[in-house]
Amino acid sequence: MSIEAAVQERYANAAQQKEESLCCAVEYDARYLEAIPDEIIERDYGCGDPSRHLRPGETVLDLGSGTGKICFIASQVVGPKGKIIGVDMTDGMLALARRAAEEVSSRIGYTNVQFRKGRIQDLALDLEELDAELKGNVIDGLEGYLSAEQAAARLRSSSPMIHDETIDVAVSNCVLNLVDPADKQRMFAELFRVLKTGGRAVISDIVSSDNVPTSLQGDPNLWSGCVSGAMREDKFIRAFADVGFESVRILARDVEPWRTVKGIEFRSLTLEAMKGRGQNSVVKSFMPKRNVGRNSCC
Ligand SMILES: C[S@@+](CC[C@H](N)C(=O)[O-])C[C@H]1O[C@@H](n2cnc3c(N)ncnc32)[C@H](O)[C@@H]1O
Repeated sequence: MSIEAAVQERYANAAQQKEESLCCAVEYDARYLEAIPDEIIERDYGCGDPSRHLRPGETVLDLGSGTGKICFIASQVVGPKGKIIGVDMTDGMLALARRAAEEVSSRIGYTNVQFRKGRIQDLALDLEELDAELKGNVIDGLEGYLSAEQAAARLRSSSPMIHDETIDVAVSNCVLNLVDPADKQRMFAELFRVLKTGGRAVISDIVSSDNVPTSLQGDPNLWSGCVSGAMREDKFIRAFADVGFESVRILARDVEPWRTVKGIEFRSLTLEAMKGRGQNSVVKSFMPKRNVGRNSCC
């Protein structure tokens, strides 16, 4: 089974039934939780709170939006003049989030959230549009494969799901680690592409204290559980600079590891990376004396 299939299977199940081992005690701003249905709050699979760093009126993209919790909080922070787009590849998660969106809208009195099906390493391709285009076609042999690839390429350029330079803030909560290593560089590049100049990425994720050995990387359970796909902390920070971000600031970092596996520590980190402004340098500002505002988890 591929990494992506293992991740999709795990989160399809986690959409149906709360999975305790994927949950952690993140303290979200209680004011914003009142409008969100319980079944969404219960299925909290994040490891930080990027929504604390948003401002009214912003257009926000949530990478790997899951049940939509961060989108629904962000929706209230940015207000009716802002806009939120959640992207996820798992049907069960999208169905839950879309159902809850109607309830949240009626409670807060406006609608500014949409959920799209896509992969975060390929933000131009709307997988529901591709599905509609391919439905009814016989995909047979090499010719079928190549024509499906051409259909995807056509959609990316004629109706990109997320256009270049249209997003003020890209947020993500415990998702980047889940992406296949072969696709990670592309994922960082996509993140950079969609942000406006002057925009920023605010990312909460799990990072590791050392390189994760291939024996751990081959374990689908540890991978989909946010362990094996974690990048070494310095490499994670460097990956933003490598695709063009100008400055990276650590907003929160757990001192206590969430898990230690084979002597490697896995902990939650939240960082902010700026596009097109700053000092052209990667800033690493640890806060080593305390956990910042939340328990260690994922
Ligand atoms: C650990 S959960 C986090 C969900 C949400 N951000 C939260 O805070 O609860 C990971 C989510 O990312 C989605 N996901 C994983 N890899 C993805 C990818 N490559 N593209 C899009 N979604 C992905 C999964 O379907 C799942 O909903």
